[in-house]
Amino acid sequence: MNGRHESTKQHGSGGGKAVLWLLLPPLLVLIVLKTDFLPQAARLRETGFTRFKDGMVNKVSSFGLDSSARGQQQSLDTEKPESAKGYNQQNEILATNGARDGSLVNSDVGGAATMSKLTCNFSNRHSDYCSMDGDLRFHGKSARVYVVSSSTFRSENSTITIRPYTRKWEPGTMSRIREVEVRSSAPAPHSFVIPPKCTVWHDVPAVVFSTGGCGKNFFHAMSDLIVPLYITAHEYDGRVQLLITDYNADWVAKFRPILAALSVYPVIDFDADTAVRCFPSAHVGLESHRILGIDPARSRNGYTMMGFRDFLRSVLSLQRPWTAPVSRSSGQKPRLVFVLRRHSRAVTNEADAVAALADLGFEVVAAGPEDVSDMARFAAVVNSCDVMVGVHGAGLTNMVFLPHNGTIVQIIPWGNLKYPCRFDFGDPVPDMGLRYEEYEVTAQETTLKDKYPRDHPVFADPLSIERKGKVWDVFLEGQNVTLDIDRFRGAIQQIYQSITTE
Ligand SMILES: *[C@@H]1O[C@H](CO)[C@@H](O)[C@H](O)[C@H]1NC(C)=O
Ligand SMILES: *[C@@H]1O[C@H](CO)[C@@H](O)[C@H](O)[C@H]1NC(C)=O
Ligand SMILES: *[C@@H]1O[C@H](CO)[C@@H](O)[C@H](O)[C@H]1NC(C)=O
Ligand SMILES: *[C@@H]1O[C@H](CO)[C@@H](O)[C@H](O)[C@H]1NC(C)=O
Repeated sequence: MNGRHESTKQHGSGGGKAVLWLLLPPLLVLIVLKTDFLPQAARLRETGFTRFKDGMVNKVSSFGLDSSARGQQQSLDTEKPESAKGYNQQNEILATNGARDGSLVNSDVGGAATMSKLTCNFSNRHSDYCSMDGDLRFHGKSARVYVVSSSTFRSENSTITIRPYTRKWEPGTMSRIREVEVRSSAPAPHSFVIPPKCTVWHDVPAVVFSTGGCGKNFFHAMSDLIVPLYITAHEYDGRVQLLITDYNADWVAKFRPILAALSVYPVIDFDADTAVRCFPSAHVGLESHRILGIDPARSRNGYTMMGFRDFLRSVLSLQRPWTAPVSRSSGQKPRLVFVLRRHSRAVTNEADAVAALADLGFEVVAAGPEDVSDMARFAAVVNSCDVMVGVHGAGLTNMVFLPHNGTIVQIIPWGNLKYPCRFDFGDPVPDMGLRYEEYEVTAQETTLKDKYPRDHPVFADPLSIERKGKVWDVFLEGQNVTLDIDRFRGAIQQIYQSITTE
């Protein structure tokens, strides 16, 4: 401690600074020439320059040790997953004392030099993300990640910013996502970035993502976050620390069972976290391949949506992996869940529609918003069914809980909406191991006919409404659906026939 203090003084004086500035140009040359020449780098660490740096580290990182930091710290590496409880206390003591045991991998002062590596991908349509390993230090409060002593260091991108959400193509959504800064430094002693000192050590990977983009919408929660989280974090089998920026407590509460299956550690509210957490590896941002889907060819582990659905089934203890054909003569009935909306895209004659479905031979479960809101409970209902029917909307996302080979019927409202509706709830279906049918309402079956004359562009030229940017207001929020019961019955009867046997 003494020696470190002294060297700080010594080199912190005016003369020391001048010498340092004189040293910079040759050191820069060294970075270029010697970044991968480890023995040399290791030897240079033994010099006074290193000690000088360590002294600065202590000063710069003192914010990491304040009392609120200790209150925030929620998880630590030395624990076994089974004993994740009681974490906080232990952690506090360790963090306060700066004590570490042999299982801890990172060292920011002395010890063997850890070389870091950073790779980022900015060419994905859905999300930017970086993967890194080595000596990594996370300071949530300032939204900074330090990649210390990086073998992939380039001065032109020594600072990279990422908005860790998966709707990159939507500037409006992305503007609400907090930027995380990833700062790399060259291998010691060539670095001019002085990283803060670790206050908490983890021996599991970190995954940083934002919950700021999905609000309460179940489709976005699943498509933008849960599926990408599965792609990014499932491989660690629970031994991974999730750090959430733009922390949405309702979201975390709702998805707690799934989050707990992905990570045995309590999630960390990144923005409020004053600790400096050190991790051996990390992902900032989530990998995302497609809407409500996984591309096995792009997944490191060949993950599939079938596998994702098996994962959900196991997490929520759902009973039925597969639908079984129902024999009509046995008196058994296939089960159908009808997902009903209330404020827009409601089925105005839902009682008649439900009666028609029952008449066809289905056991019908009518599910309003109040039934759907408890995810685990509704998942069990959906899993008990063979068919799900509903007008386009986030509720259809519950199809992820259907048993394999189940059928989903999307009712497409008026307004030339076939392609956007398919994009969300049609295209993802085959990969889930489900069967997709759609029912497009006619101009006769929309309540828009009570608002607009038949020669209005709403009917005559729906595309013009789209060009005016009014699709949401006019077609999605502005209509209910009055099903033509005979037409609807005919469409569903075909499905009944296909999933039943004599
Ligand atoms: C930094 O930029 C170089 C090209 O200038 C690129 O090859 C490298 O992948 C970038 N690194 C990161 C982490 O983005
Ligand atoms: C980055 O992502 C794109 C699009 O997903 C992919 O095609 C490409 O292979 C990735 N690049 C790297 C270096 O992984
Ligand atoms: C749709 O029906 C509901 C009643 O179920 C009503 O409150 C709402 O205003 C209707 N919306 C439209 C756009 O007609
Ligand atoms: C899926 O369901 C269809 C229709 O009932 C049936 O013909 C097919 O054999 C089923 N596939 C599997 C794998 O069970």
